[in-house]
Amino acid sequence: MPLVYERFFALRPDARALFGNDALGRGRMFNETLTMILECTREVGYLEGIVEREVGDHRAYGATLSMYESYFEAVVQAMQAALGESWTPSHEESWRRQLEHLLSIVAGADDR
Ligand code: HEM
Repeated sequence: MPLVYERFFALRPDARALFGNDALGRGRMFNETLTMILECTREVGYLEGIVEREVGDHRAYGATLSMYESYFEAVVQAMQAALGESWTPSHEESWRRQLEHLLSIVAGADDR
């Protein structure tokens, strides 16, 4: 979890200021992100609704669509760093495909 945010804030220093200093919110966010990625792979019917609510809540935090893009990039980079040599091109392709799908749902819910 710290790896993800380290990478995210390196990519987007402007996003750092939106977060508090308590790690609990960040932990909840990463857990929910992992759950959503799993739900992407299972093509559950309710994912769009959950994402829509989350994107709505995140508008108040100041999250923008391009921040989601950077956050998802940080997730892939952190996974790659954590797995080291165990990370394969197949992992890379799968994670990127699911996160691209998730980003398209976020973009659809982000009607600003
Ligand atoms: C799929 C992507 C994302 C999911 C599922 C998600 C989910 C969550 C969840 C579950 C929380 C915790 C809320 C709570 O504990 O009350 C949270 C907090 C937060 N999220 Fe996200 N989030 C996502 C992307 C983003 C992005 C791209 C930003 C951009 C800045 C962002 C900014 C925040 C902020 C500022 C908080 C408050 C954290 C704090 O209390 O310090 N989130 N998010």
